[in-house]
Amino acid sequence: MKSKIEELLKEIESFVAESKEHVEEFRIKIISKKGKVTELFEEFKTVSPELRKEIGQKLNELKNKAQDKIIELKEKFEDEEDTKKTSHDLTLPSETLAAGSRHPLSLVRNQMVEIFSRIGFTVSEGPEIEDDWHNFTALNTPEDHPARDMQDTFFISENPDILLRTQTSSVQVHIMENSKPPIRTISPGRVYRNEAISARAHCQFHQVEGLYIDKKVSFADLKQTLLYFSKEMFGEETKIRLRPSFFPFTEISAEMDISCPFCKGNGCNICKGAGWVEILGCGMVDPAVLDNCKIDSKQYSGFAFGMGIERIAMLKYQVKDLRLFFENDVRFLKQFKSVL
Ligand code: DAH
Repeated sequence: MKSKIEELLKEIESFVAESKEHVEEFRIKIISKKGKVTELFEEFKTVSPELRKEIGQKLNELKNKAQDKIIELKEKFEDEEDTKKTSHDLTLPSETLAAGSRHPLSLVRNQMVEIFSRIGFTVSEGPEIEDDWHNFTALNTPEDHPARDMQDTFFISENPDILLRTQTSSVQVHIMENSKPPIRTISPGRVYRNEAISARAHCQFHQVEGLYIDKKVSFADLKQTLLYFSKEMFGEETKIRLRPSFFPFTEISAEMDISCPFCKGNGCNICKGAGWVEILGCGMVDPAVLDNCKIDSKQYSGFAFGMGIERIAMLKYQVKDLRLFFENDVRFLKQFKSVL
């Protein structure tokens, strides 16, 4: 029996497998129910008691060797298969990756930030989920004020004090509450309104708010700032005009038009023949708003303005439907290329 064990051990040790199937044949031949090792275990039953310990040990060793060898060979062939699967032909031409482009609203926003930062405006942001105070009341628009009608929004039913901001003017309040003049900042961000979605209105859009508070800030400063912005944004030949208007948080208030960037003021279907298009609201910050935000209105004055980013982008890129900005259709988006 001993010699049989040794012979089988040699056979196992010298076995060289050529394939996965070959390993399986070997496994059946050696350690399956009808395999040679199993046969030897059968024969072991007839071994005399004196030899049992020695032969039993050898037999177990043989079995372990056989199992180890089979596992080792199986793994070897599996590994080879894996590397075959993952190895690529490195000479093949690479797949081209489609390069993305910036969203037109980001382009316009970035350009605005760039233009205003050149004349000393910083960028500040505020929360999109607001309370009534920051969005309305501090801005001189108490609960029963008719101007609230124009800016219906989404409220939280459990707490009507919490709402989605309707205007980035709310950021003015945060800034004035938390810092001291001089303040010169713009606040770009998303705003919400309860509006039916159409080519000209949406329940979400973007605004940039501007705020400048210091001693002796005048309406002339406001005009010059907006003229500079309009020329930088729409071209040197751009003209501006201010029309009296009303906003609860500014006194005096105005709306600003620029000469139509398409027909250069001659009249076309974009400006409906007027030669002018409206782009923003502005005014001198109402002293009541300064006082609400704990800024001394006797010492300080300031101007503010607010404009829609979509509106500017539509004029700049001749986009006629507001919804295109939110649909994320690549055919639309990939037309806007710029580094900014
Ligand atoms: N918040 C106004 C709106 O959404 C726009 C605006 C008008 C902002 C006049 C201002 C301003 O800062 O002075 O319609």
